[in-house]
Amino acid sequence: MLFKTTLSLLALATAALGHMQISYPCPRYSPHCATRPTLPPGESIDYNLSSPIGSNGTILAPICHHNTPWPQVNEVWTAGQSLTVKFYPSGTTHSGGHCEFSISYDGGNTFVVLNQQLKYCFFDGPPSQGGTDSVRSYTFNLPANLPGTDHAVFAFTWVNAVGNREFYNQCADVAIKGSAGSYTGKKVTIANYGPGYPVIPEFLGNYNTGLEYYTSNTTSVTVTGPGYSG
Ligand SMILES: *[C@@H]1O[C@H](CO)[C@@H](O)[C@H](O)[C@H]1NC(C)=O
Ligand SMILES: *[C@@H]1O[C@H](CO)[C@@H](O)[C@H](O)[C@H]1NC(C)=O
Ligand SMILES: *[C@@H]1O[C@H](CO)[C@@H](O)[C@H](O)[C@H]1NC(C)=O
Repeated sequence: MLFKTTLSLLALATAALGHMQISYPCPRYSPHCATRPTLPPGESIDYNLSSPIGSNGTILAPICHHNTPWPQVNEVWTAGQSLTVKFYPSGTTHSGGHCEFSISYDGGNTFVVLNQQLKYCFFDGPPSQGGTDSVRSYTFNLPANLPGTDHAVFAFTWVNAVGNREFYNQCADVAIKGSAGSYTGKKVTIANYGPGYPVIPEFLGNYNTGLEYYTSNTTSVTVTGPGYSG
């Protein structure tokens, strides 16, 4: 028991000193969700969600860290509403990089991008020109024609500017109030995540590094939802 408690404390300390992690919406299996649903059978709380899911071309964890969704959603959003995604303030930002927020309607196989924060994610400008490591939330509108569903998967993904070539990701289980229909947009960029995915090298001061995988060499994808009225 004491041993277990010590391990949990260690894990918590590691998470606090870890990398960037969303705090809202609360990510799948996080120990920190205020209204934490019951875990699926056989799963446990993950104190290590801020760790990369890919590093140096090696897959360390599946997309979302865990394949099995929380049975109950953590948030109910409405198509067209303003959404503020928040991050824990502490955590290593690796001098920024490319971030995306996206959503999946097929259980986490296909993600369509809702918002991009390219180059200086977590910074309020280019670090070389005095941009500070101070941004811990992003606000954007969900598309008004985002289809409704009682269970979608929201994802934060990030390729870091400085350090080992890593791919960071956490996901939240959410519902979207909206009509039945479909939404077409850019497919999420997955990089530094093993064979078959592009490698984005360390930026070395050039914040356009790998930008083509977010702006031009991209794929379009359509997601479909049955509609949900809450
Ligand atoms: C946390 O994740 C990192 C990288 O994904 C891994 O090396 C480490 O073993 C993990 N730690 C725990 C306690 O799961
Ligand atoms: C990743 O590769 C770099 C450069 O080869 C190396 O310094 C680093 O230790 C590697 N990191 C991991 C986690 O394998
Ligand atoms: C687009 O990216 C893929 C890797 O995802 C790469 O194989 C291909 O050469 C790129 N195409 C262009 C035009 O850059």
